[in-house]
Amino acid sequence: MVCNLGINGFLGRMGQSILIESRKHQDINVTVGCDLPDKIASADKFDNIQLTSDISKHDDMFDVIIDFSLPKPSLEIIEKCVKLNKPITIGTTGFISSQIQLIEKAARNIPILLAPNMSHGVNVSLGSLGMIAKSLKGYNIEISEIHHVNKVDSPSGTAIKMAQVICDSQKIDLGDVHSPDCPIKFVSARENTEIGTHEVSFKGLNDEIRVKHIANDRSIFADGAIRTANWVKNKKNGLYTYNDYMMDML
Ligand SMILES: NC(=O)c1ccc[n+]([C@@H]2O[C@H](COP(=O)([O-])OP(=O)(O)OC[C@H]3O[C@@H](n4cnc5c(N)ncnc54)[C@H](O)[C@@H]3O)[C@@H](O)[C@H]2O)c1
Repeated sequence: MVCNLGINGFLGRMGQSILIESRKHQDINVTVGCDLPDKIASADKFDNIQLTSDISKHDDMFDVIIDFSLPKPSLEIIEKCVKLNKPITIGTTGFISSQIQLIEKAARNIPILLAPNMSHGVNVSLGSLGMIAKSLKGYNIEISEIHHVNKVDSPSGTAIKMAQVICDSQKIDLGDVHSPDCPIKFVSARENTEIGTHEVSFKGLNDEIRVKHIANDRSIFADGAIRTANWVKNKKNGLYTYNDYMMDML
């Protein structure tokens, strides 16, 4: 069955990458593109796609929403999805803990998938990081990440997710990632058009283990967003991760 997609943040880097990637999927149709009113007003037309700044007006045109925007608009679209009883997959990063609590609350009413990194490669690496961290207690851990200069949040959502997986596996508290007391050191760099590089280093007295992921193209995130959206639309209400999707696909 064909899945009709609405994209929030449609005219952004990820929104456009999802549109391009969707053309490789026979069962996916992008039908609604949502963005800020001024951007929509000056945007070129897209064949068979309804451009809007309010998805509520076109709720009969999509089955599920994919959101890649900013935390505030992301929360607004989640609220609309709850009212419309529509599922949503969220790739937006930079949420603070009170905002995550709002997402958890909304997920009691609709299926929500939240993934700070939608690439299959990073999500597979998270499993390895958990295993390495469990066996290497006492090593100094540093996560370095490089992104393009327009990225708003720092450290990246992926770096924080990696740190959380490591801390969960070592049964320690991650705490405030900006605090000097944080058990994991973060190094963030913003360079040109860099799509996203993450490297985790476990440094012992006499050795070092590194796990590195380099994103060469946004299509890897777009592909994950499309696949998880198609998956989450058939799930029960609740908050899902990319790992839940991955485990279901095994
Ligand atoms: N989860 C992942 O795998 C992954 C991958 C890449 C980027 N991201 C995250 O996705 C988000 C978007 O990244 P991007 O590079 O596409 O950013 P971008 O700035 O290129 O695009 C964001 C879009 O959202 C739009 N927007 C802003 N306010 C809006 C509103 N109120 N309603 C509708 N649209 C609105 C902007 O106009 C813009 O077109 C960021 O948080 C980024 O960190 C996540």
